[in-house]
Amino acid sequence: MKNLNFIILISYISFSAIKAIIQGDETDCSYDNQNCSACGSTPDIQQLFTYNSNQSCYVTDCLTIGNAKNGWICYSCFNSIQQVTPGPFFDGTNCVNECPQGQQAGDFSSYICEVVNSGQGVNCDQGDQTCNGCGKNVYYAYQFRYNNNGDNLCYVFDCSPNAVKFLNGYVCNSCSTAPGSGNIPKGKFYDHKTCTDTCPPGYKADLSTGFVCLAPPNPGTQVQCSQDSQTCNGCGINPDTVSMFNYVSEQNCSVIDCHYYAFTSLNGWICKSCALATGSDNILQGEFYDPNANTCVKNCPIGTSASANTNYICTPVPVAVPCSNDSQTCKGCGSDATIQGQFNFMSGNNCIVQDCTQVTKFNGWVCNSCSFVNTNTPLQGKYYNGSSCTDNCPPGQSASAATGYTCQVINPGVPVACSKDVQTCGGCGSTSDIQNLFTKLKGTSCQVTDCFSNIIGSNLNGWICNSCQNASGSGNIAAGQYFDGKTCVKNCPIGQQASADTGFVCQNPPNPGANVACSTDSSTCGGCGVTNAIQNLFTHGKGNLCSITDCNLSVVGSNLNGWVCNSCQNASGSGNIAAGQYFDGKTCVKNCSIGQQASADTGFVCQNPPNPGATVACSTDSSTCGGCGATNVIQNLFTHGQGNVCSVTDCKLFVVGSNLNGWVCKSCSLASGSSNIPVGQYYDGKTCVADCPSGQSATADTGYMCKTSSNPASGNNNQSTTSDTSLIIYILGFANILNLLF
Ligand SMILES: *[C@@H]1O[C@H](CO)[C@@H](O)[C@H](O)[C@H]1NC(C)=O
Ligand SMILES: *[C@@H]1O[C@H](CO)[C@@H](O)[C@H](O)[C@H]1NC(C)=O
Ligand SMILES: *[C@@H]1O[C@H](CO)[C@@H](O)[C@H](O)[C@H]1NC(C)=O
Ligand SMILES: *[C@@H]1O[C@H](CO)[C@@H](O)[C@H](O)[C@H]1NC(C)=O
Ligand SMILES: *[C@@H]1O[C@H](CO)[C@@H](O)[C@H](O)[C@H]1NC(C)=O
Ligand SMILES: *[C@@H]1O[C@H](CO)[C@@H](O)[C@H](O)[C@H]1NC(C)=O
Ligand SMILES: *[C@@H]1O[C@H](CO)[C@@H](O)[C@H](O)[C@H]1NC(C)=O
Ligand SMILES: *[C@@H]1O[C@H](CO)[C@@H](O)[C@H](O)[C@H]1NC(C)=O
Ligand SMILES: *[C@@H]1O[C@H](CO)[C@@H](O)[C@H](O)[C@H]1NC(C)=O
Ligand SMILES: *[C@@H]1O[C@H](CO)[C@@H](O)[C@H](O)[C@H]1NC(C)=O
Repeated sequence: MKNLNFIILISYISFSAIKAIIQGDETDCSYDNQNCSACGSTPDIQQLFTYNSNQSCYVTDCLTIGNAKNGWICYSCFNSIQQVTPGPFFDGTNCVNECPQGQQAGDFSSYICEVVNSGQGVNCDQGDQTCNGCGKNVYYAYQFRYNNNGDNLCYVFDCSPNAVKFLNGYVCNSCSTAPGSGNIPKGKFYDHKTCTDTCPPGYKADLSTGFVCLAPPNPGTQVQCSQDSQTCNGCGINPDTVSMFNYVSEQNCSVIDCHYYAFTSLNGWICKSCALATGSDNILQGEFYDPNANTCVKNCPIGTSASANTNYICTPVPVAVPCSNDSQTCKGCGSDATIQGQFNFMSGNNCIVQDCTQVTKFNGWVCNSCSFVNTNTPLQGKYYNGSSCTDNCPPGQSASAATGYTCQVINPGVPVACSKDVQTCGGCGSTSDIQNLFTKLKGTSCQVTDCFSNIIGSNLNGWICNSCQNASGSGNIAAGQYFDGKTCVKNCPIGQQASADTGFVCQNPPNPGANVACSTDSSTCGGCGVTNAIQNLFTHGKGNLCSITDCNLSVVGSNLNGWVCNSCQNASGSGNIAAGQYFDGKTCVKNCSIGQQASADTGFVCQNPPNPGATVACSTDSSTCGGCGATNVIQNLFTHGQGNVCSVTDCKLFVVGSNLNGWVCKSCSLASGSSNIPVGQYYDGKTCVADCPSGQSATADTGYMCKTSSNPASGNNNQSTTSDTSLIIYILGFANILNLLF
């Protein structure tokens, strides 16, 4: 246990040692930058510094500086909580505590040891002995030392480039006589780039110009930016730019000097005033100010424009809005000529505000078109709230293209139960446009978000009508709980009905059929037709009863059979399938065609009546016809009579088919009607024949099957011709059937 604690302690110590950092002291190498880019000559070194809220830079971690060194690092890390470097000065190789003989280092030299070459005295102190008059900010002043030997002059402490960060006329003048080598360029005057002894032609420099080469000012032209007709305070938003102007008269001011060196910052009024200034070395000429490029431009960038109303600042232009209601004019963009006249027609249904700064009358279209043009306060916001443009409609109101971007009270509908999935309002309409008009509530409830007719547009259906029927407010869709296919109505057209089942759409009621006994399993209507389409037309009732749900022709279509006909024969309403209790193979008929019959047994399909055979004595048990054939199929062709008597129920060829034997032949040989199996009382193994083949005979004992006879004399001997005849009869019978079918 003790050992374990010890190990934990060890690891804690090593862990914190790894995490420990030693932060350096703050330095002045930030100058007036907002970063530490001046703290080293390479990014590697610059990255070692952190810029802080004191606008200073310090070495982030003196333990991780590696071999990187310069004066600022030496200083920052020497003055850290623990002295990490051996001294605050950089001698070119190492951090040292003292510079080599004859050299000095300090803030002025970026803590690099060097031979100090001081400048001569310059008269730029303002009497406060700080040399603050020697430059436009303290960083200029820091380069000077005030000499109090009675001369009240300021001296550049060290004219080497390490020390001089900021040039101006006083610096140039002081350093122009500095001893030693490696100094900044020599020259008494500052020409806005470097120190020089000769100013450009037309320029002059002396103590009165601060030793800066200056030409006579190139004044700008008058611009109307005085707001108080007294000062030029309206010509800029800060004192620096305002002081560039001279007040002239009335609302007019003009830029005092358009020379590029006269400005520290630009604005649209400066650009405008200097756009026509004469003389050379002026700021780039162009009457508009492009804030992104921070320069004057002759043309604003695409998508922006400028005018006096934008203070000549290039400003985003209005956007097109879809308010033209005739694709020719902007008359749809407002209710009066003033608003309409503020728009220019573009194309399609688009119009655009001509000049957002000239707008005198507002509405939603104006606000929306001008929403990106932010110079005028009343134009801030995409929507119109009745008094001004706003980005937020008041509570309970909304705006969209449908409301002309005018904030409008929302007139919600009441909840209706059209959510099928309890999660979306997808069940409330067949299109997403309709579905999106609803807000989902709890459970199956959805409600129309806003019943305003411009929002609903043509996206109507029964659920919309039902939800909006009692909505308050004006401008709503027609009030009415049902949808008649065109609009919401309070009552459906005569004869039509609507309910939640029909989605509140007015519909003709179904014309149900009567009950018919076609259910074979007492629970479905599967027995009522051979196709699903027919079965689905039926509704199951009690027991074996089913009825057609709707006898309307457009519902039933061609899905007909006898049960359908029978159920629909008395259906009320119009537009139903043909009335008739029987199906003739094509349509429902009141009577079958002559010779045909229909009944429940034929499924109410018209059929020719059966051609029953004669009785034959083939029942062996006096109760069934099991003795009349070897197969069930043949036995089932017979109907049992009394005793041992059976008869073929229907001798038609399409009923009997090839299920022949002697009893069948015998029974059917006396059948009436047409289309029967071949006539012949004997079965020769293939068909019914009137005479057995030669040498064969048949009797009740052989089941009327031709068999080789022990006494040929008792057999039939004129076989050869009748056999052919039977065949012909068979073919004729078959042809009759074909006739029937076609
Ligand atoms: C540092 O600041 C100066 C002055 O604000 C700026 O010009 C320069 O681009 C900046 N450098 C970096 C690396 O941010
Ligand atoms: C800013 O400077 C003050 C005074 O030197 C110092 O107390 C403070 O910690 C500095 N702030 C930061 C963020 O370093
Ligand atoms: C004011 O300046 C405008 C041009 O910006 C000029 O048309 C107008 O004449 C000037 N007014 C006076 C009184 O000079
Ligand atoms: C367009 O809108 C205006 C203003 O609401 C209206 O007076 C005019 O009749 C409309 N024109 C058309 C074609 O709808
Ligand atoms: C309209 O919007 C403006 C700007 O958001 C707001 O100051 C004003 O109170 C609003 N007026 C109404 C009636 O909502
Ligand atoms: C609409 O108002 C009528 C009359 O007040 C009322 O009978 C009906 O139930 C209301 N419908 C809905 C959906 O609220
Ligand atoms: C149809 O009406 C006739 C005459 O009223 C009636 O005899 C028959 O039973 C009805 N049929 C059905 C299926 O209701
Ligand atoms: C039959 O149904 C169709 C489609 O549902 C409908 O258009 C027609 O009006 C209906 N006819 C009658 C008479 O109900
Ligand atoms: C249809 O049969 C009925 C009797 O069921 C008869 O009264 C009627 O005349 C018959 N109609 C036709 C067109 O044969
Ligand atoms: C022979 O055939 C003829 C004609 O089919 C028939 O009338 C006659 O009865 C037959 N004779 C016998 C013995 O069956």
